[in-house]
Amino acid sequence: MKRSLTLNYEEGENWKDLNEDLHAMIEETITFSKNAYAPYSNFKVSAGLTLENGIKNFGTNVENASYPASICAERTLISHTVANHPNDRIKTMVIYVDKAVGEPVPPCGICRQTILEIELKQKSPIEIILISKEGNYKVFEKSADLLPLYFDGSVL
Ligand code: THU
Repeated sequence: MKRSLTLNYEEGENWKDLNEDLHAMIEETITFSKNAYAPYSNFKVSAGLTLENGIKNFGTNVENASYPASICAERTLISHTVANHPNDRIKTMVIYVDKAVGEPVPPCGICRQTILEIELKQKSPIEIILISKEGNYKVFEKSADLLPLYFDGSVL
């Protein structure tokens, strides 16, 4: 039997069309990409999140001369937040790539699994907002939407 899955998201040309509550967070995440440590790829990525209590955290990719020791912006951010705010739920995560490639860049598979782990732990959706250098956006209501048929630790 063949099956197909539907991927749900919203997209638009200009992130300023999104709810005004999100604008400061998006602007700060874009600015934060200057902190990316990406001397090998020159591919600067930043991520920002808001917690339910209003606290904002930011992260970037941090590369290493031993290439596999590098870490993506999303996982830098998740690790920091889970370690420093273990009891606060994440509401929204913004991801920005400082390279004009025409479209918002979706997170890699490992980052999707990492974000999903925390979404399952906190039992509430983490909204994912992807922003391109050109200003267009994609919004996913929850991180699970970005990772269909994900590996769920409850099977362990
Ligand atoms: N990168 C991220 O920060 N997030 C992703 O989801 C994909 C890739 C970083 C890792 C590396 O520093 C650079 O982008 C090129 O792969």
